[in-house]
Amino acid sequence: MQILDGKEVAAFHRDRVERKLADLLEDNIHPELAILCIGNDKPSAMYAKSMQRLAQATGLTAEIYGKDVAMREDDIISMIEYFNEKKSIYGILPMMPLPGNYNASRIINCIDPAKDVDGLTDTNIAHLCTGRSGFVPCTPRAVIAVLEYYHISLTGKEVVIIGRSNVVGKPLAQLCLNRNATVTHCHTRTRDLQAETRRADILIAAAGRAGLIRGDMVKPGAVVIDVGINRIDGKTVGDVVYDEVANVAGAVTPVPGGIGSVTTMMMLENVVCGQTLTD
Ligand SMILES: NC(=O)c1ccc[n+]([C@@H]2O[C@H](COP(=O)([O-])OP(=O)(O)OC[C@H]3O[C@@H](n4cnc5c(N)ncnc54)[C@H](OP(=O)(O)O)[C@@H]3O)[C@@H](O)[C@H]2O)c1
Repeated sequence: MQILDGKEVAAFHRDRVERKLADLLEDNIHPELAILCIGNDKPSAMYAKSMQRLAQATGLTAEIYGKDVAMREDDIISMIEYFNEKKSIYGILPMMPLPGNYNASRIINCIDPAKDVDGLTDTNIAHLCTGRSGFVPCTPRAVIAVLEYYHISLTGKEVVIIGRSNVVGKPLAQLCLNRNATVTHCHTRTRDLQAETRRADILIAAAGRAGLIRGDMVKPGAVVIDVGINRIDGKTVGDVVYDEVANVAGAVTPVPGGIGSVTTMMMLENVVCGQTLTD
């Protein structure tokens, strides 16, 4: 059984980010990431901070805006419009979900699609679905980056994805489809989850349910990608019961040290290297 090591994949991409950044700095270009952290959601604030730390460690300027400030929707939009105009800002990253009192769609779609580094705008979603270049959400990109790093082809494979959210499951399905996989989407209304997962050559769990994927749900030799992040008794675990699945699968991503490690690097790569082809 092979462990698909996200840290190794992240290090590979970090090197790419740092080289590109060095070229830009040499040309006296100082790209900046604007992180929008509206409201006082604790996980969002923590994610914003860790994103800022990682960006700064690679030499990228990253500022967090909006934290702990009560902002009117129109003021948020004015701020985004200012970021859209400001040349040195290469990427605008809103922490999601936005507090419920805001019209999230209105706010997101004010972001210039060319600076929408997490692929959230309707324009970038449409580009992904129609095979045009644009920004692709970072977690689905991280899954593809891990598969590519380990030379795991998607062509002709049965891919089963558990989860159909707009930020993970749906864009991931599109990326797999674009790479000629046969894709099945599972969710809470799927009648027989085990029957579906056992067919998968590549099984991707993105449900946010600790312990969901047991050993007897996996086809022998399958590749299992665990996107889930769950906090159980102070520990971070995925959706996959790792010890059981490792006995059956051909390859597995661990949690922590799997997809999460790559996701933040994909964000920096989007900021520094620009849009990614969606095909
Ligand atoms: N590794 C990373 O970098 C990274 C980044 C983002 C998110 N995540 C993690 O990935 C997970 C998914 O995130 P998300 O934002 O997509 O979550 P989400 O919006 O809550 O969506 C979860 C999806 O899983 C499905 N689901 C939940 N329980 C299920 C079950 N028992 N059986 C079958 N399907 C089930 C839901 O089905 P319905 O549609 O029917 O409700 C839904 O489509 C979370 O653990 C999150 O923390 C990781």
